[in-house]
Amino acid sequence: MNDNLGGFFIYSTPISLTYTDRRFKLSYSKVFYMAGKEIDMEDTCPTGIPGLDKIVGGGLPRGRTILLRGEFGTGKTILATQFICNGILRYGEPGIIVLLEQNFAHYKKDLRPFKFDIDALQQSGKLVIIDASMSKMSTSGKLALADDVRHLPSQQEKFMTTKEVVDYLLATAEQIGAKRIVVDNIPALDNLLRRTRSTRDEVIYMNYSLQAQDLTSVLISDTLKDRSDDIENYVTDGVIVLEYNVTGPDTGRHIYIKKMRGTEHSENIHTLRFKKGVGIEVLENE
Ligand SMILES: Nc1ncnc2c1ncn2[C@@H]1O[C@H](COP(=O)(O)OP(=O)(O)OP(=O)(O)O)[C@@H](O)[C@H]1O
Ligand SMILES: [Mg+2]
Repeated sequence: MNDNLGGFFIYSTPISLTYTDRRFKLSYSKVFYMAGKEIDMEDTCPTGIPGLDKIVGGGLPRGRTILLRGEFGTGKTILATQFICNGILRYGEPGIIVLLEQNFAHYKKDLRPFKFDIDALQQSGKLVIIDASMSKMSTSGKLALADDVRHLPSQQEKFMTTKEVVDYLLATAEQIGAKRIVVDNIPALDNLLRRTRSTRDEVIYMNYSLQAQDLTSVLISDTLKDRSDDIENYVTDGVIVLEYNVTGPDTGRHIYIKKMRGTEHSENIHTLRFKKGVGIEVLENE
């Protein structure tokens, strides 16, 4: 007998209870409900970030590539890390974070107030962080590699091709069964790659390769101005923008969804807050 006894939430994690061979079994649900609407985990990749899933129709489109754009200090790294950590802890989905700018020690230190417990997640084998930040300095320089984090193979010796980087990411994803990946950040790829094509084509190649593996990808960009001719806007399925207003009645941090293919998303500008022990939360202002 195999009875599905229904679903419920534990700490906002969708759980289903089944009775099989005289045993009760708890597992992650394939379906959950948000504001009375049924959300299918096969199509949707919930971020678990308070307030964000609601404004993107339940979560990010599964297996697609989302650009997270914002000026420096707007909260991109925190938001993307929350997406990966929640994926592991709430939805049983392993993840990869590629650091191209900030080194691992600084990254961990900056995130300390939010208690993401990066070390424990790494040790569980469900989180892999790849520190490629030394490419910022120069790929030819010999720098000491930290041993509590992974690095890209041969990165210190030479520039890498996009294919080499992507192959390593896909092999790592397969190894841990990753469903989510973050690249922080895309413009810094320039320091790492031996270009064989235009940046646009390099990003398109990475984008399609990650999608082919059914990874839901968040690519970060700190490009200062949102230019309509910017390549990332065209090669990603969604664009989330973070901004910081320093003057006027709307002073503070905000988030809005500029584009999210196939999703009924909010068209409003929402206030964004940092919360100790949580990370970012998105408010539902109209
Ligand atoms: N508890 C907090 N309250 C208010 N602001 C905070 C808090 N914690 C972090 N911040 C702000 O968040 C910023 C860091 O966020 P994060 O590293 O995610 O930004 P980022 O967009 O990735 O920046 P960068 O482009 O420099 O990498 C800090 O510079 C600080 O301004
Ligand atoms: Mg950052």
